[in-house]
Amino acid sequence: MRIVVCITGATGAIYGIKFLEALKQYDNVTTHLIISEHGKENIKIETSYSLEYVYSLVNYAHENSNLAACVSSGSFEYDAVVIIPCSMKTLSSVANGYSENLISRVSDVALKERRKLIICPRESPLNSIHIELMLKLSNMGAYIIPPMPAFYNKPKTIDDIIDHHIMKLLDKIGIENRKSKRWEGMS
Ligand SMILES: Cc1cc2nc3c(=O)[nH]c(=O)nc-3n(C[C@H](O)[C@H](O)[C@H](O)COP(=O)(O)O)c2cc1C
Repeated sequence: MRIVVCITGATGAIYGIKFLEALKQYDNVTTHLIISEHGKENIKIETSYSLEYVYSLVNYAHENSNLAACVSSGSFEYDAVVIIPCSMKTLSSVANGYSENLISRVSDVALKERRKLIICPRESPLNSIHIELMLKLSNMGAYIIPPMPAFYNKPKTIDDIIDHHIMKLLDKIGIENRKSKRWEGMS
């Protein structure tokens, strides 16, 4: 399975990093990573992880400016593109087909090739433009999975909250996992 992971400059870079750590556990998953320039900034601002560490988690990394990278073409097959976290700027470029960098291009390819596109948009509050763009992408088949914490599994740490989100992403891609406690009904 080939997964393209994109980290953009919305707050929550840690979600992207933890997602890459989770994918690294699977021998049958090959990862391609693209980090926007603002994504790189936010990794520095928000986390104690180095960019070297983040890149060490993946099989292949591409610069966001490199539109000639393999993942830029529909002829290069991949199973899913996951943008985590996704800024409103990148959301807009994807929703409007404005493929001026590799992240918007691979997302555009996923849509045109009818492959899985999973977007984890992050902004609060949302204005009507943000909501309209998400609706537009959802209508085109993209999965809109914002990092919204659940509390029914009684999280105790930030990692618990992030793991629950990662479980949802792995489920959607079709990767069996036990990242978090699932709701099994009231006893
Ligand atoms: C610390 C920090 C947090 C940010 N958080 C958000 C956010 O949650 N959502 C968002 O849409 N933009 C956020 N931004 C602004 C984006 O980084 C900015 O719009 C940028 O142009 C996004 O570019 P990119 O999508 O190419 O990464 C944040 C910026 C900084 C410095």
